[in-house]
Amino acid sequence: MKPLISPEIEAYALAHSRPESSIRQALREETERTRDDAVMVVGPLEGAFLQMMAQLVGAKRVLEIGMFTGYSALCFAEAISEDGTVITCEIDEEAAAIARRYFARSPVGKNIEIRMGPAIETMRTLTGPFDLIFIDADKINYVNYYQRGLELLAPRGVMLIDNVLWSGEVLKQPPPDERTAAIQELNRAVAQDPRVTAVLVTIRDGVLVVRRKT
Ligand SMILES: C[S@@+](CC[C@H](N)C(=O)[O-])C[C@H]1O[C@@H](n2cnc3c(N)ncnc32)[C@H](O)[C@@H]1O
Repeated sequence: MKPLISPEIEAYALAHSRPESSIRQALREETERTRDDAVMVVGPLEGAFLQMMAQLVGAKRVLEIGMFTGYSALCFAEAISEDGTVITCEIDEEAAAIARRYFARSPVGKNIEIRMGPAIETMRTLTGPFDLIFIDADKINYVNYYQRGLELLAPRGVMLIDNVLWSGEVLKQPPPDERTAAIQELNRAVAQDPRVTAVLVTIRDGVLVVRRKT
């Protein structure tokens, strides 16, 4: 992932935002030590943003598409009320094993339910409403996740979709590969959807914040 924000600005923003919990720091550091794909972790600044969004909508039920080693799921569990639930979808058993160890160590880990298997199939089995839906899995399915997510989203809920700037590749026409094309299609679909209103926030790799029109 190519950083879109200068390291100095990123560090300044981080220093003036809600700090990372010690358990998330330990999880992030283990992920960085042991996984080549650790760059997928949202990290402390976007994590603080996700927590703020969850608290602003008073989220009790959160659905996450793409858990990886559990960092963002822990962000949500820490931010929502004690009787809240985070349902998180994943297909990678090795990543999930790391997540389970850290959820077991966290006082809020009991509020996280892991659903293994292709997320689109899991989403078909779920019943809404969810107050917050975070989409952060395979980009090829982003439009499918968005469409099903909208059916599951509470009327005043929020959907957050990660990596929508894709290291800046979204500017390229024609798109250089299938994943870039899928993200461009998602951004277009949301912008043209009369049911919703959205803002593309330039935090980290871009987060699309979507809610229904009232
Ligand atoms: C970008 S990572 C998620 C990072 C995570 N949100 C975090 O901040 O730590 C995307 C994850 O989606 C998972 N994934 C990919 N395709 C999937 C699918 N079809 N169903 C469920 N999970 C999938 C990958 O295994 C990977 O762990």
